[in-house]
Amino acid sequence: MLVKSLHRYYLLGSCLLLAGLLVFHSTTPEKDFPQETVVSSITNSANQPILPILPYISANQTKVQLGEKLFHEPMLSENGRVSCSSCHNLKTAGHDGLPTSIDIRGGMDELNTPTLFNASLNYSLSWTGHIKTLEEQIETVMHNPKHMGSSWERAMGRMRADKTYQGLFQSIYPDGVTDEAVIDALSEYERTLITPDSPFDRYLKGELNAINKQAKAGYELFKSYGCISCHQGQNVGGQLFAKFGLFRSFFNEKDKLTNADLGRYRVTGKAVDRHVFRVPSLRNVARTAPYFHDGSITTLPDAVRYMGDLQLGRRIPDEDVGLIVSFLESLTGIYQGRAL
Ligand code: HEC
Ligand code: HEC
Repeated sequence: MLVKSLHRYYLLGSCLLLAGLLVFHSTTPEKDFPQETVVSSITNSANQPILPILPYISANQTKVQLGEKLFHEPMLSENGRVSCSSCHNLKTAGHDGLPTSIDIRGGMDELNTPTLFNASLNYSLSWTGHIKTLEEQIETVMHNPKHMGSSWERAMGRMRADKTYQGLFQSIYPDGVTDEAVIDALSEYERTLITPDSPFDRYLKGELNAINKQAKAGYELFKSYGCISCHQGQNVGGQLFAKFGLFRSFFNEKDKLTNADLGRYRVTGKAVDRHVFRVPSLRNVARTAPYFHDGSITTLPDAVRYMGDLQLGRRIPDEDVGLIVSFLESLTGIYQGRAL
């Protein structure tokens, strides 16, 4: 499902971004949208730059159940104490709520843990977007000394000795407990971690009272300021790459630059990729504080102010910030019958 050709998206993304900035940067956002105008603009969600999330029903529920068990399985980590859910806690919106994750040895990572909800809808994975598929990401995280810090040999040795796992794997995979099977079940489970039916999605689908007046006005501002040129599509982001700090540097204010602050430069080695990051999804963003790759910004209104300043060269007045936040709050979706 994940698009392989990142390069094409990078180019497409750059064009959309430029077009978006040209159009939006020069327009002054209107205030006081008459209710009718906003309502009548949502007649067909296919014309909107944001699309509703579609439910994902796996064809193999047994595989999903195994994947869920593996997601919480500490045997997969080097010290036998850390599982995917230690950092991507589904009870707290799929992340750990910390500025940067605590690595497996108890030290601080340099990166904020992204939520796993809707990660399968991103065109590329990680803050630098250098990982293309959920399967590839599991390979990476298993060997990442800060995350699982393990090797397949060691992890599989432990799991093969476990009678329950032997039975569970045998019932789906003829070769039993293997790294390929772990990757397959785990990634299928991750695909089920999506949050459709947010109030905003219901609104897009025609339920005009699903969001309030403030959120509607916030959506219009989100478009007219130009946020939409980067945060768009089904995941309201996750599609493009952009330099963090187009109009002003975020990093001049920092006491000490970390390796992670270099962005895609770390993975491509190209000067143009310095401080370039994958534009993150804004789905459930009201539940995923703190913000940015280094988790340095604590509140959503502040994140919105920084975006106006750094990405659009605009100081967004407080009233507009409040409306945009109302819109962003309407992006909180439903998982297993409950809002995140
Ligand atoms: C010690 C904390 C930690 C653990 C344990 C951990 N992760 Fe992560 N995860 C992170 C951090 C931090 C990132 C961001 C890494 C980056 O951008 O390079 C991340 C990124 C991801 C992403 C990319 C999300 C996106 O939208 O780009 C996926 C998918 C993911 N992890 C899945 C897993 C799975 C599956 C496991 C268990 C096998 C796991 N993680 C274990 C901290 C952790
Ligand atoms: C030029 C592209 C671009 C534009 C325009 C843009 N953003 Fe962003 N946005 C990004 C990038 C890139 C990041 C990730 C920055 C980082 O942490 O390194 C980001 C991060 C965010 C975050 C934090 C998400 C998280 O999970 O940490 C929020 C909230 C946000 N943007 C909202 C907005 C709003 C609101 C606007 C309009 C006022 C906007 N953005 C305009 C590219 C853009």
